Amino acid sequence: MEDMELESLYGGIYKNRTCLVTGHTGFKGSWLVYWLQKMGAKVIGYSLEPLTEPNHYSLLDINYTSVIGDITDNEKLTDTFNKYQPEIVFHLAAQALVRYSYHNPVETFTTNVLGTVNILEASKKTNSVKAIVNITSDKCYDNKEWIWGYRESDAMGGYDPYSASKGCAELVTSSYQKSFFNENEKLLASARAGNVIGGGDWSEDRLIPDIVKSTENKVKVEIRNPLATRPWQHVLEPLSGYLMLGWKLLLGEKQYAEGWNFGPKLESNLEVKTVVDETQKHWDKIDYLTNKDKSNHHEANLLMLDCSKANKILKWNPIWDFNTTIEKTILWYRSYLEKGKIKTEDDLISYIKRAKDKKAVWT
Ligand SMILES: NC(=O)c1ccc[n+]([C@@H]2O[C@H](COP(=O)([O-])OP(=O)(O)OC[C@H]3O[C@@H](n4cnc5c(N)ncnc54)[C@H](O)[C@@H]3O)[C@@H](O)[C@H]2O)c1
Repeated sequence: MEDMELESLYGGIYKNRTCLVTGHTGFKGSWLVYWLQKMGAKVIGYSLEPLTEPNHYSLLDINYTSVIGDITDNEKLTDTFNKYQPEIVFHLAAQALVRYSYHNPVETFTTNVLGTVNILEASKKTNSVKAIVNITSDKCYDNKEWIWGYRESDAMGGYDPYSASKGCAELVTSSYQKSFFNENEKLLASARAGNVIGGGDWSEDRLIPDIVKSTENKVKVEIRNPLATRPWQHVLEPLSGYLMLGWKLLLGEKQYAEGWNFGPKLESNLEVKTVVDETQKHWDKIDYLTNKDKSNHHEANLLMLDCSKANKILKWNPIWDFNTTIEKTILWYRSYLEKGKIKTEDDLISYIKRAKDKKAVWT
């Protein structure tokens, strides 16, 4: 795909645009930075050092400004905003793991709530910032374990510290929208995505990384909660939504400065066991056993998102179906492990081509 074709995505809004991405050393942030860079954006990343080894950030061969810093370090954060004068901020930095949050609640709340306040304060004080997309989670909702998907108008909540911190981050966002931003020339939106998979994630206690690490080590992966249902989607899906929101906000369209769900079609809300079975079709070495979690930590069983608002109003729709999502994910890891080659570029181009075939508005 020609550079020009990539630069013209999202109406060409990202070309030469200074974009600050927090969490760029993490799973989703590293993919976002890669995509923004391909569209000709001037990217500034702000995060802690990568949290795992290997990690997607270090495997990507791209050149951009990477600042290693803590979002709870206000001075460094403010200096970074002042120095680079971003026009848009994608805030993805977070303590993003549910089980870890049970052992480290203070760190989780500090990073996810106070860190978000710091990002919004720095954005408020920096004149160049016109748009902010705050990435929270589907877990921000008060989970009633019911069969319906949560809507953007549903109550915030959260049982475990991670989920509650994301509910809090949404309340902080809402307060800043009302009190400071949306009546001025800065626009702030929040994005709530489901369980994201794709190549390049090695985090602890996440299904796909657990499967990959166990298979690489020739052991059976332990599945804790085979019947838990989640909205599975490829990492490029929510990113295409975040970029759409950024596009609308940069155009000054105030009606988009609110909360948005980005999840898969209903048929991709599937049990953990179904996901594992599907991965085996693409890697016959994958084997598993079911081992009930002995920690007694509560984990939601049923969690679905209603994405009608993004589908109808933003005209955002998922591009890949469940089978393609699993196939791309597993083949990414196999290519890395068996040939030492990452398929990030191949996956991005293939995703964009499919989006063009489907006439996605952002293409
Ligand atoms: N992966 C998913 O399934 C999923 C689902 C819904 C929402 N999310 C949200 O998307 C965002 C990105 O998730 P991810 O999967 O890429 O997580 P990740 O753990 O791979 O990456 C987290 C990033 O945040 C950075 N970070 C953590 N604490 C920090 C701090 N105090 N200061 C600066 N940087 C810090 C890390 O260095 C890393 O770059 C998070 O907000 C997460 O809650 C993820």
